[in-house]
Amino acid sequence: TDLPLILGIESSCDETGVGLVRGCELLSDQVASSVEEHARYGGVVPEVASRAHLEAMTPTLHRALDGAGVALADVDAIAVTAGPGLAGALLVGVSAAKAYALALDKPLYGVNHLVGHVAVDQLEHGPLPKPAVALLVSGGHTSLLLVRDLATDVELLGDTVDDAAGEAYDKVARLLDLPYPGGPPIDRAAREGDPSGIWFPRGKWGDGTFDFSFSGLKTAVARWVEERERTGAELPVPNIAAAFQEAVVDVLTRKAVDACRAHGVEHLVISGGVAANSRLRALAEERCAAAGIKLRVPRPRLCTDNGAMIAALGAEVVAAGLPPSTLDLATDTALP
Ligand code: KG4
Ligand code: ZN
Repeated sequence: TDLPLILGIESSCDETGVGLVRGCELLSDQVASSVEEHARYGGVVPEVASRAHLEAMTPTLHRALDGAGVALADVDAIAVTAGPGLAGALLVGVSAAKAYALALDKPLYGVNHLVGHVAVDQLEHGPLPKPAVALLVSGGHTSLLLVRDLATDVELLGDTVDDAAGEAYDKVARLLDLPYPGGPPIDRAAREGDPSGIWFPRGKWGDGTFDFSFSGLKTAVARWVEERERTGAELPVPNIAAAFQEAVVDVLTRKAVDACRAHGVEHLVISGGVAANSRLRALAEERCAAAGIKLRVPRPRLCTDNGAMIAALGAEVVAAGLPPSTLDLATDTALP
């Protein structure tokens, strides 16, 4: 086709991602993760992540080009995560993107990682009907967005006031002696558990905002676990995992559906690492069907951090005719 070939580079956290897309077509997606190096610390160590990006960047880029069967010279534009994320980690991706843009004499676009998590859905389900509401649930963010245009008009409807949903999974996993990152093992444990015997609080439930709070839930789980340990009773890990997970996905899906209703929106996208969660996917489907909302959730591999999501957003930015970034493009760890 004659749509531009977009190279996307992602390095905001612990995944080095390089993807290639044309419009809504995914040509390749390569990710190198340093997650195992962080596992023994129970969270991402920024300096370790930066070093791993530096080592992985060039080989990952070449794997992505090989996977798409294209040469570096075929690339028409380069998109890179400018923020939000870890300072040193972001710098590696942005420096690489600048070097390739300069060497190839191709335009460079700094883009927002969070909007990339929404844009990636187009690679699986085609052009996103607008307006849409997006629920973005990751290790660093829990936001509801009103998307009128991916490149130019994304409004923040609500956000977490404390922990992100994924962060709550990671912290609760630690309380239950499950490995890091905590989302997948809690998801698995919960499938064997019964949530009905334990009630955990739903933060900001029915408060009329689209904001979230998960720190009270985390504290409630900690108290429950301490109480059990004090009496020497065995921990019913699957039941705790199931009750915790139910509290998280109950409030996430309720507020997402409320946001669609409040804004008269028929399409909901759920993305970010926590969108890989099986119970979130099932409950969202159930509640969206009941509310007449069409749900789009990318496959788990596209929900976690990757370069294709940055290329997908780059394609939108190029199509919108926005001006490229200059070579003094700065990273912004707190990009809104
Ligand atoms: O989007 P992502 O890969 O990185 C960030 O930008 O944060 O999200 C990572 C988060 C981690 O907190 C991880 O525990 C969570 O996503 N996660 C899950 C599942 N898979 C990953 N949470 C719940 N259930 C899952 N199946
Ligand atoms: Zn992310």
